[in-house]
Amino acid sequence: MTHPTQPSTPALNRGTLSRQLVLRVTGLVALVAILLSALTTFATSQILTQQLDNQLVTQAGRFRSDFDDDRGPSLGDGVGQQSGVIVFQSVVRSGTRYVRAFYNGPDGQQLLSAAVREQLAALDTDGARVVRLEGLGAYRLLIKTSSSGVNVIGLPMARITEPIAGQLAAAGVLTLGAIAISFLAAREVVARSLAPLNRLAATATSVSNLELERGEVAVPVRVSTSDADPVNEVGRVGLAFNHMLDNVEGALAARHESETKVRQFVADASHELRNPLASIRGYAELTRRERDSMTPNVAHALSRIESESDRMSTLVEDLLLLARLDSGPSLDLQPTDVTVLMLNAVSDARAAGPDHEWALSLPEEPVFARADRYRLHQVLANLLANARTHTPPGTRVEAALRVEGTDAVITVSDNGPGIPEEIRPRVFERFTRADVSRVRRQGGSSTGLGLAIVAAVVGAHGGRAEVASRPGHTVFTVRVPRAAAQG
Ligand SMILES: Nc1ncnc2c1ncn2[C@@H]1O[C@H](COP(=O)(O)OP(=O)(O)O)[C@@H](O)[C@H]1O
Ligand SMILES: [Mg+2]
Repeated sequence: MTHPTQPSTPALNRGTLSRQLVLRVTGLVALVAILLSALTTFATSQILTQQLDNQLVTQAGRFRSDFDDDRGPSLGDGVGQQSGVIVFQSVVRSGTRYVRAFYNGPDGQQLLSAAVREQLAALDTDGARVVRLEGLGAYRLLIKTSSSGVNVIGLPMARITEPIAGQLAAAGVLTLGAIAISFLAAREVVARSLAPLNRLAATATSVSNLELERGEVAVPVRVSTSDADPVNEVGRVGLAFNHMLDNVEGALAARHESETKVRQFVADASHELRNPLASIRGYAELTRRERDSMTPNVAHALSRIESESDRMSTLVEDLLLLARLDSGPSLDLQPTDVTVLMLNAVSDARAAGPDHEWALSLPEEPVFARADRYRLHQVLANLLANARTHTPPGTRVEAALRVEGTDAVITVSDNGPGIPEEIRPRVFERFTRADVSRVRRQGGSSTGLGLAIVAAVVGAHGGRAEVASRPGHTVFTVRVPRAAAQG
């Protein structure tokens, strides 16, 4: 019996409920964490851009309008002091262009390169925008144009992108952490909640491995009371499962009891019939001495009584044997030489059926089987009797023995007419037989129990009986386990 082992953490195999639950929970947490990071990053970038714009507007508001003919437009108080700021003014006054273009870098104010000046001079629409400046990177620029020229003030976008990059990195780390933690937590929670279900499955498996077909059957397994708590869902399944097992056990016990009663009745009845039958046969035999003084009719009637009571004795013995085999092991299993059994059985058959052709093929070495010698002899006798009584004279019957793995295999084959098709599938069932008159003609007595006994006896040996039959070729095969030692 195999019991599934109980994993402390769920084996996240493909298709398991554990895997689905854990993956879904983790996926959900990942989704939420990523959404949250994206949202906060977006909000932060909005706020920072707004701040940058405010600073630019404040600075731009300080540009002064007074003008010095030597130096061009004057710069407002505090304009151009912030680190990284760029200022660009290009104004035409009385036919002269005045340009101020500097960048407040780490080493103080520096003149903007010609390329950048060109880029800035080309700007002609008012407003704030991001421009990538040659050699300086991305800048947020506030542009103000007038009829006389353009004023531009700008701050580096790095003031926004750097904190955002930092925040993104932090959010990434947090998201990964959240995913890892939720994966571990979900796995643990799922393991705990599904453990009772696994135990339930283990119990169900062990029940399904019980052999409930025959005999007295107890169902010794139950779901433990802690797993059969009606408060939770799995517990309710456990409880229902236990009730079901109680029910099954009750039903099996009832079935077993009624079967036992029937078997006992058949055994008792057969047993009780033996004595009166013996008396009838005895009295019939007594009258035989006085047959000469009887009228032929009476003599015939008496001989019929004799033969029918013989037949009935056979029937009763067969029924008794079947009833015994049904009610459990009643065989005396000993290492038995099957070759000897076959020799005897075939020589009996040859004597009983001199009109048939008999053949026997045996291996060189004796073959031992764990068998009840009388019962196995009966199996052989039944098969050989069938080959004799259900086939016409002249039929060739061959009995053979061979060894196949751990089995001794006996075959009885004949080239007679074969088993009638309509009874072929159930020849091993009780009271299955074909046209009785044909058997009578050949001097046999047919009960329909011969092959049922073969099947029951061979089954009780732990073996198997089979038949293959077509007109002209019928083979009965009987396998019994070989004996390890001889005795
Ligand atoms: N070798 C055989 N050839 C043809 N028919 C057979 C053979 N063996 C068995 N049968 C058929 O199977 C039936 C069942 O056999 P069995 O159980 O021994 O009952 P019985 O011999 O008492 O009729 C027989 O009645 C017969 O019709
Ligand atoms: Mg028979």
